[in-house]
Amino acid sequence: MDHFLYRDGELFAEDVRIADVAAAVGTPFYLYSTATLTRHYQLFDEALSGMDHMVCYAMKAASNQAILRTLAELGAGMDVVSGGEYARAKAAGVPGDKIVFSGVGKTRAEIRQALEGGIRQFNVESEPELRILSEVAAALGKTAPITVRVNPDVDAKTHEKIATGKSENKFGIPIAKAREVYAEAAALPGIEVIGIDVHIGSQLTDLAPYELAYQKVAELTEQLRADGHTIKRLDLGGGLGIPYTRSNEAPPLPSDYGALIKRTVGHLGCEIEIEPGRLIAGNAGILVSRVIYVKQGEGRQFLILDGAMNDLIRPAMYDAYHDIVPVVEPEAGIEYQPYDIVGPVCESGDTFAKNRMMPPLKDGALVAFRSAGAYGAVMASEYNTRPLVPEVLAKGDQFAVIRHRPDFDEIINRDTIPPWL
Ligand code: LLP
Repeated sequence: MDHFLYRDGELFAEDVRIADVAAAVGTPFYLYSTATLTRHYQLFDEALSGMDHMVCYAMKAASNQAILRTLAELGAGMDVVSGGEYARAKAAGVPGDKIVFSGVGKTRAEIRQALEGGIRQFNVESEPELRILSEVAAALGKTAPITVRVNPDVDAKTHEKIATGKSENKFGIPIAKAREVYAEAAALPGIEVIGIDVHIGSQLTDLAPYELAYQKVAELTEQLRADGHTIKRLDLGGGLGIPYTRSNEAPPLPSDYGALIKRTVGHLGCEIEIEPGRLIAGNAGILVSRVIYVKQGEGRQFLILDGAMNDLIRPAMYDAYHDIVPVVEPEAGIEYQPYDIVGPVCESGDTFAKNRMMPPLKDGALVAFRSAGAYGAVMASEYNTRPLVPEVLAKGDQFAVIRHRPDFDEIINRDTIPPWL
């Protein structure tokens, strides 16, 4: 459920008229709903109630500081994958001991930054990383709390570009090698083993792969404890899918997921951590765009929008489906017609949808891409020197710009001309 609903014939974000935001900010823009972000965070928090737990929001999904602060105020921790994300989380007011550092390629500088600023744990993904972490921590006179990310070789049954738990993926350490790696970790200076980490992919719409992966983690917990390691925290990753269409089957609920966690690892007495991103932010955000032209092509009609692939890359990159709805509610009984919905960028890949049935739309009409809150603004670029899309946050009947649209000078003044030119 989200808070983008039609009321009095037009789309609202909570109690904010989307047309009012468009008038104030211009298009395109991302618009998030505080109530939806809050609700989604709380679904996870409640799903794990009764267990010692922390929901560490995977901020790669949507990392605006206003979003981070909204979630942090509810008690969320953060899952970060770069020094930039770490700095952003700190700037948003998240304390270091609520920040988890994931990712296959942490640099020495990033490790140092997190050790100095405070960290809940590093999720270590390889032996070379483990050794560098030990070296950097020992040199700073610090101890790095770690889990090792294990790769359980489970098929997450999702898009191949976002599956991470199969042995051919670059992520984690093969689970069969885990005991060896934990033995090495325990012997290294500056390292404190505290648990195990696993993450098998994103947009999972079936709980079965989680069940398999978590059972393997439970077995490994017992083995590692028998080997003498302290395993007190399990980071079970993120990945729970969201509905992108309103007609398709509903993906599993966080409450079902929570029950699965209790069933598979609840008996181990570990603190449970999860790292959801998409389910918290995805349906809490929309991208609003305006129709520039309706163009009659050969046997098809194009809806040319002012939003483009650089603003929302998911359709071009993953063939992702996003629901696109008019901001003015279609009249009952109106005949829908097929449109190819495209942006102004100079490549054919700049296509959001083909043959999409829509009510008749005219130049100037506003449309909203639903489910665009996760992996939307964060994956935007300035391709074609199109300014990064602004972000706006709604709360009740208020809205605020949380990232402004840069003007052309701001963009082009980042370039510097070398002295020989
Ligand atoms: N934890 C780790 C270690 C991850 O790699 C990810 C996502 C998450 C948590 C959060 O997963 P979520 O709950 O959001 O599914 N750009 C792609 C998605 C990439 C996901 C990368 N890792 C997309 O637009 O679909």
